[in-house]
Amino acid sequence: MSLRDVLIDELRDLYSAENQLVKALPKTAKGAQSEELKQIFTDHLSQTRGQVERLKQIFEHLGKKPTGKHCNGMEGAIDEVKEALEEDEEGALLDAGIVGAAARVEHYEIAGYSAAILIATTLGETEVVALLKQTLAEEQNAAKLVMSTAKGILKQAYAQEADEAEPEKKPKSAKEKKSEADSKKDEREAAKNLTRSAQEVVAAEPGKKKK
Ligand SMILES: [Fe+2]
Repeated sequence: MSLRDVLIDELRDLYSAENQLVKALPKTAKGAQSEELKQIFTDHLSQTRGQVERLKQIFEHLGKKPTGKHCNGMEGAIDEVKEALEEDEEGALLDAGIVGAAARVEHYEIAGYSAAILIATTLGETEVVALLKQTLAEEQNAAKLVMSTAKGILKQAYAQEADEAEPEKKPKSAKEKKSEADSKKDEREAAKNLTRSAQEVVAAEPGKKKK
């Protein structure tokens, strides 16, 4: 595998991530309660379409096809947005639940583009770097917008909470039960790594099998 292959992989991952977002953002915009948040997601949908086009341009420049890899990370990040939208809440309290999930989506993209820029810079692909930097700036701006809008939403959510009566406890859904069981499993599996020194834990890890 060459470094160029690593770049192509990274870009295919981003291409899949952007396409998943083109599909998910309309639902997110619709589900958000505040007009500001709706506007951010709608604007970001237009931007994301442009980002898909930009990636196509990059692939054309590199003489490769953009498909070939599904981005599991973005699938997970979008799932968390969906979960937040499905919460039995309304108004600012529902939006408050979306903030962290939406910020994760943007920062996931920021990480991917930053890595791709670093690799493309190493390879001397100046044209690719310039295009990727345009998208990175858009993602950073979107992340900032989500956070600055969140401030007002969180204040409203806090006020709303004081006005609302204590909600009735509802039985947990199958999905919530699975999430709870998985979180306990995470804790169990981490336990032995938490009590030994980090060096010891790393040394005990089986290495990569030689072919
Ligand atoms: Fe994006």
